[in-house]
Amino acid sequence: MLKGKKIVLGVTGGIAAYKSVELLRLLTKAGADVHVIMTRSATEFVTPLTFQTLSMNPVNTELFNLISEREIGHISLADRADLFIIAPATANVIGKLAGGIADDMLTTTVMATKAPVLIAPAMNVNMYRNPIYRENEEKLKKHGYFFVEPVRGMLACGWEGEGKLQDPKEIFEAAMDALSVKDLAGEKILVTAGPTREEIDPVRFISNYSSGKMGYAIARAARRRGAAVTLITGPSSVQKPCGMESVSVVSAGQMRDEVISRAKGSTVIVMAAAVADYRPAARSGDKIKKNGETQQLELVKNSDILAELGRGKNGQLLVGFAAETENLLGNASRKLQEKNLDLLVANDVSADGAGFDIDTNIVKLLFKDGRVEDLPLMTKAEVADQILDRVAALRGKG
Ligand code: CTP
Repeated sequence: MLKGKKIVLGVTGGIAAYKSVELLRLLTKAGADVHVIMTRSATEFVTPLTFQTLSMNPVNTELFNLISEREIGHISLADRADLFIIAPATANVIGKLAGGIADDMLTTTVMATKAPVLIAPAMNVNMYRNPIYRENEEKLKKHGYFFVEPVRGMLACGWEGEGKLQDPKEIFEAAMDALSVKDLAGEKILVTAGPTREEIDPVRFISNYSSGKMGYAIARAARRRGAAVTLITGPSSVQKPCGMESVSVVSAGQMRDEVISRAKGSTVIVMAAAVADYRPAARSGDKIKKNGETQQLELVKNSDILAELGRGKNGQLLVGFAAETENLLGNASRKLQEKNLDLLVANDVSADGAGFDIDTNIVKLLFKDGRVEDLPLMTKAEVADQILDRVAALRGKG
């Protein structure tokens, strides 16, 4: 999605300037063409050479430093940018932008651009709370500037509080957000993710290898595309996406209750969770002791959440997953029919590059009308967008 996008990254003078290097790496890794502008004080913290080497573009530090004709023709950075990011942004640069002051390369270029501008402030907590700063930030927001608010933490100045630059991964996510078409605006999308755990006794449970990565990627992409998202997740060590209602559950029974109670209010439901099909008939209150050479565990069936949704469907678009190790298409199309789904995402979890706890997947998309699409190996984030492209089309928004 960032492939070929021109992003201007403004770096101002704060100790967090070094984190901008990581942001630059995330942007270039995603295929963006990044041009860095540093304020004079930023160069006191990190050398322009670092940014130049990693961006493979010249770094601009001087006012009216006209980039060579050969590189940009007659068009300035301001005109060429798809997006501006200022990270870290000091109270000073934010004050200048709010006051209409353009006295260096960065402020001049930002003021001249029509591209969206994303600001990630970093400063001392008292500066951040200062009413003058607050007014400046509000003013810029009113004019359409985007902000990625700083987080709480130990600040370089010794104070503890909000003012710490947001994690570069979140700034990267906000950049994707700013560039996304909001084609899912108005949709209420419920996504389930991760495994469930069925307890045997206080120290043991039955579960599976699901990491939650696929479901989280769908939830994140849906929010970025403008949907109101609820994520219902089983235990997962993956960082929870921001900007959505997120409900943590443990067992299939809990997941069922949370999903069913929200089903009516949803327009789309994506069941990416790997729900346990069975649970122990009885959970022992005490740890079960070793006893004899064999041990029997009686299991009873959990309710199939997706099948229940399919039976009670009233207008929602239902998307299911099928994790298979054999007869992929046969099993997947049976599940599509039996569970009354609109779209089924099938993957052979035993194939190289697909399955649990990795960042890539290879899936087939099966539609109610019998169409089957084969997608090549791609990252789970890309698979998420592919699925949501089909969801948007099925909802008449493609
Ligand atoms: N699913 C569900 N509730 C269950 C089991 C599965 O909602 N108790 C959903 C999953 O979230 C997934 C789809 O059903 O979207 C298919 O899950 P999968 O485990 O592949 O298939 P099952 O229907 O459980 O069939 P089987 O285990 O026999 O392959």
